[in-house]
Amino acid sequence: MAHTIAVIAGDGIGTEVMPEGIRALEAAAKRFALDLEFTIFEFGSCDYYLEHGQMMPDDWFEQLKDFDALFYGAVGWPEKVPDHISLWGSLIQFRRRFDQYVNLRPCKLMPGIESPLAGRKPGDIDFYVVRENTEGEYSSIGGKMFEGTEREVVIQETVMSRTGVDRVLKYAFDLAQSRPRQKLTSATKSNGISITMPYWDERVAEMAKAYPDVAVDKFHIDILTANFVLHPDWFDVVVGSNLFGDILSDLGPACTGTIGVAPSANINPEGNFPSLFEPVHGSAPDIAGKGIANPIGQIWSGAMMLEHLGHADAAQAIVDAIEAVLAEGDMKVLTRDVGGQGTTESLGRAIAAKIKS
Ligand code: NAD
Ligand code: IPM
Ligand code: MN
Repeated sequence: MAHTIAVIAGDGIGTEVMPEGIRALEAAAKRFALDLEFTIFEFGSCDYYLEHGQMMPDDWFEQLKDFDALFYGAVGWPEKVPDHISLWGSLIQFRRRFDQYVNLRPCKLMPGIESPLAGRKPGDIDFYVVRENTEGEYSSIGGKMFEGTEREVVIQETVMSRTGVDRVLKYAFDLAQSRPRQKLTSATKSNGISITMPYWDERVAEMAKAYPDVAVDKFHIDILTANFVLHPDWFDVVVGSNLFGDILSDLGPACTGTIGVAPSANINPEGNFPSLFEPVHGSAPDIAGKGIANPIGQIWSGAMMLEHLGHADAAQAIVDAIEAVLAEGDMKVLTRDVGGQGTTESLGRAIAAKIKS
């Protein structure tokens, strides 16, 4: 049976890396006899907004809800549309309405890529950030008062529900339990954020009781960011609130050499709605249009999508191909962020060719 995949490339380099993501998926589909059916949507981009006055049509939920998965590029072009409008009109709606409450973001130092951290080799950095993805600091509760006056006040509440916290913690603990090191680190800030963060800690401690095999530690987010740089080898599964997870999932990949390789899976584990797969990076207006963006984040996200759809072997073949091409280190093929002179397409084609073989 075909897997139906809705494709939204979005803005900037989203439109450049997406074809390479699809090229890799098609190569894997051919090799493993998978039937992938792609449907391309134009909405969810700033150009769509400029034409229609909104990021998506009113019936976007109906149009997308029955797909098996969403494959997403990147959205945002602040010169055309303010970021909070473009992002809250698209990506954040998907995460919330499709209840994609887990944002799973691997950080792995790959062969052939030099870490900016001195002396770090592949194997030294290999962990997951599990980010809460539907509530926390990204809440729509709040507002502006006394606008335009000296008494102006803006408030945006942090929301943590027991269900919302527990379900992402459960996912993170299950993941930690399934990994050889069986270690979970919680990102907190319960010394300063005195209501929500102590609550987060409390739920972590409660959940830990059900996972006696998992070694649990926690760090306040300030020192945790320092430890990502100083001791990335300490981490196995790192779980954090929406904002903390966002920050850690750019910092982690930066420690692995470039955020251009980092993938993510926005998962609705129950399968009530489609999950969404996208690189961690954004639309990168500074390099858009040059054909030099690294497509690996998009391609690896495609691998995570295949794994989610039940094809672990095909997913592994894509990751193996990425690693093989990076390890070969052909500077004519690799993109600039990893020291090469190649293009988005040269790197994408090299990976697709390896997947086929
Ligand atoms: P960004 O991730 O787009 O870019 C940050 C830096 O990393 C830039 O210098 C960029 O050139 C570089 N970079 C990013 N991806 C790369 C790749 N694949 N290859 C090589 N270099 C790469 O972050 P930003 O500049 O903060 O945001 C730009 C826009 O993207 C904004 O509108 C922002 O809101 C949006 N954004 C969207 C998403 C998403 O769709 N998931 C994520 C982050 C940012
Ligand atoms: C990400 C992005 C988004 C987020 C932005 C673009 C709203 O940074 O996916 O990491 O903060 O979640
Ligand atoms: Mn981010």
